[in-house]
Amino acid sequence: MTVEEANPNRRPHTAVVGLQWGDEGKGKIVDLLTARHDVIVRYNGGANAGHTVIVEGERYALHLIPSGILYPDKLCVVGNGVVVDPETLIEEIESLRRRGVEIGQNLRISNRAHLVLPYHKEQDAAYEEFLAARTGLGEAGAAIGTTRRGIGPAYADKVRRSTALRVGDLLHPRRLRDRLELACRLRAAEMTALGVTAPPPDPIDLADRFAAFGERLRPHIEDTVYRLHDCMREGRSLLFEGANASLLDIDHGTYPYVTSSNCSSLGIPAGTGLPGRHVERVVGIMKAYSTRVGGGPFPTELDDEIGHRIRERGREYGTTTGRPRRCGWLDLVAVRYTAMICGADALACTLLDVLSGLDELRICTAYRRGDETTERFLPDAEDLEGWAPVYETLPGWDEEIEEASDRASLPQNARRYLDRIEEVVGVPIELIGVGPDRTQTLTAAAWGD
Ligand code: GDP
Ligand code: IMO
Ligand code: MG
Repeated sequence: MTVEEANPNRRPHTAVVGLQWGDEGKGKIVDLLTARHDVIVRYNGGANAGHTVIVEGERYALHLIPSGILYPDKLCVVGNGVVVDPETLIEEIESLRRRGVEIGQNLRISNRAHLVLPYHKEQDAAYEEFLAARTGLGEAGAAIGTTRRGIGPAYADKVRRSTALRVGDLLHPRRLRDRLELACRLRAAEMTALGVTAPPPDPIDLADRFAAFGERLRPHIEDTVYRLHDCMREGRSLLFEGANASLLDIDHGTYPYVTSSNCSSLGIPAGTGLPGRHVERVVGIMKAYSTRVGGGPFPTELDDEIGHRIRERGREYGTTTGRPRRCGWLDLVAVRYTAMICGADALACTLLDVLSGLDELRICTAYRRGDETTERFLPDAEDLEGWAPVYETLPGWDEEIEEASDRASLPQNARRYLDRIEEVVGVPIELIGVGPDRTQTLTAAAWGD
């Protein structure tokens, strides 16, 4: 039987990816689109992600579990490209269960996803402290401003190989203990070199704790690569949920102020084991303005009353760390670039409601340095230094738009703002966020099928 015969009405396998520096509202859009798909797949990042879903006033913050989990009949898969902190994952499962969310066979975790261990988190913090005391581009010295969730050190171990541990190792106590002994010995030497005075990790104790986590997670652990290929053969429709965002992509973001995975759509094949041609549609998520948490360049940042207003109206405080997010005007040089590398077929423009009440709005369409102008993004922190945004100014609107029912009913200047984004980026806006609730999303006619 061909895939078409298995399900002639299958919706295209779709990716939801952030086109800025994160927190674009991916969780809300994934939750909304879950209704149209069968399998929701995380392919990158770890508990550095914080995805918010609001349903009937109930707020869920998801870190490791795909944002499709609120639908009991959908399969949620944590792919091999994710780094899994088992303690955080178990807490997340328990806290969702306490709120009545069903989690059983509907959650699958790759046996090949790498583990985040407590020493990765200590190392993340120790590196950040070390770097903060050294000269760098930002106020925090050379520190990246990580979430301190151990993401960088866990991916570094994955690449270093011999001291890394994977989810599947949790189910083999002997292997777990041997690997931890080696890893802890190396770790102790490194921590001493960094001047960390905390006692070195005890491999026996860690192996016992992690073997216990393994027992709790055992029903969910499997080879997700075969599972995903099976799902595709059966004609099921996949939805890929990007964590973090394209400007934080390890290869294509504002290096070195990035995270440690490929968070653009380019990470999907490697992070799931599915050939890239199966990503049939890419929805790029962008806020109607820009935000960034942590260090690194941000050409359109607003350190003034308007930036403050956007932060308060948009409740721009981190879902994972609670840190205030840096806010600024919409940077379309950056979005045009990330839409290009992600192959975005459609855009979702979220948080448009936050801009109501501003007299005028600015969008950055080029960068200028001296008499040089460029419309190309410069995905390197030092290369971006010294470039100033070139702005277009558009009129704002006063009306609140949370109750809007479709794009045509938005104030004229809001529609002009959206039209101009489409022109500059060259990709249609098919979803518009006018409030945080699942229902506060305006969809283009094509989504109503
Ligand atoms: P994610 O990491 O991309 O999933 O985004 P976060 O959940 O970290 O941050 C987005 C924030 O904006 C959350 O607090 C959402 O509830 C909220 N949000 C999402 N879409 C909209 C929208 O269209 N309007 C408003 N006002 N809030 C939104
Ligand atoms: P979601 O999925 C916003 C940022 C951190 C820091 C840099 C590296 O919610 O959009 P890391 O802990 O990954 O080593 O930190 O990346 N960062 C995010 N910023 N949203 C995220 O995820 C982020 N994930 C990582 O603030 O600047
Ligand atoms: Mg977030």
